[in-house]
Amino acid sequence: MFNTGIATKLRSIRDSIVYNEINYVPTIIERPKNLIHSKSQAWVGLESILKDITNFSGCENNHALEFGVEFGYSSSALSNYFTKVTGVDIFTGDEHAGFHGDIYELTRNNLKDYTNVELIRSDYRDFIKGNEQHFDLIHVDIIHTYEATYECGLWSAQHSTVSIFHDTESYKDVKRAVADIAKACNKKFYNYKKYNGLGIII
Ligand SMILES: C[S@@+](CC[C@H](N)C(=O)[O-])C[C@H]1O[C@@H](n2cnc3c(N)ncnc32)[C@H](O)[C@@H]1O
Repeated sequence: MFNTGIATKLRSIRDSIVYNEINYVPTIIERPKNLIHSKSQAWVGLESILKDITNFSGCENNHALEFGVEFGYSSSALSNYFTKVTGVDIFTGDEHAGFHGDIYELTRNNLKDYTNVELIRSDYRDFIKGNEQHFDLIHVDIIHTYEATYECGLWSAQHSTVSIFHDTESYKDVKRAVADIAKACNKKFYNYKKYNGLGIII
């Protein structure tokens, strides 16, 4: 039996060369006080490194933007660290997250006590068109194709102090797009491998 620990290490070395990624090792692990119950487990765990990411990136804590809200778990986590969180989603799902019908009202209700979270029903393409706003942090967690992640992520990296991308470990196309965005912006690509992977561009 080939040792899976060795296989993981080799993959890690290969990725650091191919994608120019830097392994992210958080120093602060802090579970935020306010979180909604998560229907999906995919993002659970990442809430505990948000404080570390804000410290490490040196971003301000005024306004975070999220592309891909779904039921609201990651928005609720972000709301602990930013004065305002804007969440953009079509609220009808996609081929990777699944199609759950129209969940806008359900998500609004999930987040009813999170008064600093504003939800906008929009495709990311309409939201970014001609938009020159700057955000302290942008979280990208939409459909996990290379094209969508690259287009949405490039705009995000250009309009934020720090941009973070979920699913770098579970979707190769996401990791590829994040690596290409960092290169195009002349920024660094840190990768946190746990909880399906979180790419961090600073
Ligand atoms: C993986 S889920 C987000 C999960 C959420 N970040 C969490 O962990 O709590 C992906 C979401 O992206 C949304 N989405 C997919 N394509 C989109 C697009 N083109 N514009 C905006 N939202 C989109 C879907 O509706 C879905 O709710």
